[in-house]
Amino acid sequence: MDIMDITERLKSFFHNYVDAYLTGDKSLDRNIMLKKQHSLMVHRECRELAAAENFSEHETVLAEIAGLYHDIGRFEQLKRYNTLVDFKSVNHGEFGADILEKDNILNELEPADAAAVINAVRYHNSRDIPDRLTGLSRFLTRVVRDADKLDIYRVVMDYYREGNYDKTILLNLSETAMVSPAVFEAIKGRQNPLMSDMKTITDFKLSKLCWFYDLNFDHSLREIRNRGIDKKLFGLLPELPEIKIIRRDVNSYMDARLV
Ligand SMILES: [Fe+2]
Repeated sequence: MDIMDITERLKSFFHNYVDAYLTGDKSLDRNIMLKKQHSLMVHRECRELAAAENFSEHETVLAEIAGLYHDIGRFEQLKRYNTLVDFKSVNHGEFGADILEKDNILNELEPADAAAVINAVRYHNSRDIPDRLTGLSRFLTRVVRDADKLDIYRVVMDYYREGNYDKTILLNLSETAMVSPAVFEAIKGRQNPLMSDMKTITDFKLSKLCWFYDLNFDHSLREIRNRGIDKKLFGLLPELPEIKIIRRDVNSYMDARLV
């Protein structure tokens, strides 16, 4: 069968699959719809990234499928555990990859293509991409990780602006305008700080800036600048000497990559 037909089928399957999780319970359904919307946006980000980076048609189609399905584990996670917090339930990347495998959802794709999409789902949220992941699997994983981050920025920016912090994640973080030394060192070294080193909400916001260093495609970094995400994020941070240093470093990193 033609891969375009398969893609269309996988798109309508996605809608049916997700809609079957709606319960009529307002707060649960809200989360399901938020994750559905996010999946559709990541699907779109993948398509735009593919166009900007001149992917082949085959790569483009697979990138779109991987984007659409990257959070497929979220729906069963919500149903079973009533939470989106991985450390309180399951790793949603692994969980989603297992669902795709177990339910044979991608069985119309060539086995190698299906395996690569499943790997991209499995590792879209891991701290690093495992070294053993190569070829198409590694490629799709890199695409989905970028597309996911771009859409998460859309979500978090609104969220921060409104000051609605997720109490389950930020429970123990202080509101003090301060950067913790371990977090500062990590970011200066262009590393993601450890969650356990984060003491303040400022630390947490700064950790989102670190994602810039983790973007795989120049297109993604260009979009960060085009959409003003860097400016907005810094605008949400207090004026501290450490933040000035980080800002200078982030800007020079972006300038160097976007020449
Ligand atoms: Fe995810």
